[in-house]
Amino acid sequence: MQRQHDHTTDTAYKTRRDEIATLSADLTPDDPIPVVEYTEREHELWRMVCAELATRHRTAAAAEYLESAEQLAIPLDHVPQLRDVSERMKSISGFRFQAAPALVPLKEFCGGLASSRFHSTQYLRHPGTPFYTEDPDMLHDLVGHGNILASDRFARLYRLAGEAASRVRSTEALQFVGKVFWFTLECGVVRERGERKAYGATLLSSCGELDHFRDTEIRPLNVASLVDVEYVISTYQSILFEADSMDQVEDTVSAFWSSCDDDSISALHHA
Ligand SMILES: [Fe+2]
Repeated sequence: MQRQHDHTTDTAYKTRRDEIATLSADLTPDDPIPVVEYTEREHELWRMVCAELATRHRTAAAAEYLESAEQLAIPLDHVPQLRDVSERMKSISGFRFQAAPALVPLKEFCGGLASSRFHSTQYLRHPGTPFYTEDPDMLHDLVGHGNILASDRFARLYRLAGEAASRVRSTEALQFVGKVFWFTLECGVVRERGERKAYGATLLSSCGELDHFRDTEIRPLNVASLVDVEYVISTYQSILFEADSMDQVEDTVSAFWSSCDDDSISALHHA
């Protein structure tokens, strides 16, 4: 399904988003995360989206995500300060947030992951599309990624993805490392007690995706089979990759990310 709303034509929204983005425009990883004064409308949007997501998470989210989210305890009734969530996450799994003004280039984003840093935006999606956003926003970054980054297992997998992306040199290899990230940590599903559950951040931060992901074409998780699959981030996903268990997710992606290099990824593409 295509996006219903183009936020770039809403000047007031764009101004507010730019205002928040400017706060983190020139920060180094060690600078403190800026404090943002959120408006009552933004708190209201956060509350509404979090309530709708929480209802769906109870039946659609993987158990490990729910346990990790309980540990992190992100406030649902107001937009939290990113620095507060970051401190709590760091004390649980060692991962922390770095404020980012917008989507970060893949190499830079992954460089952060290798150092246990996750780039997070601080602005919210357009209120006209509360249940889906093409670009990452703070709901996606915190509710989707942050919640599972309080799990030691997932903190390790995110780090391994970052190390793999930092290790490879060719564009083809970097994009493939990113593709494996996309189909697992962004859009991954897993079978739990005979049911399909989501653990990927893109699914878990979008009511629209959560309402559709059980009807999507499902393929078994296998790194080599991702070579021929195209993906777009501007629509709901049409193909998802499902693992038999969270252990299989871990084994599959950690084996790939901890050993891949330009040659092994090139061999996969030209097999
Ligand atoms: Fe994401």
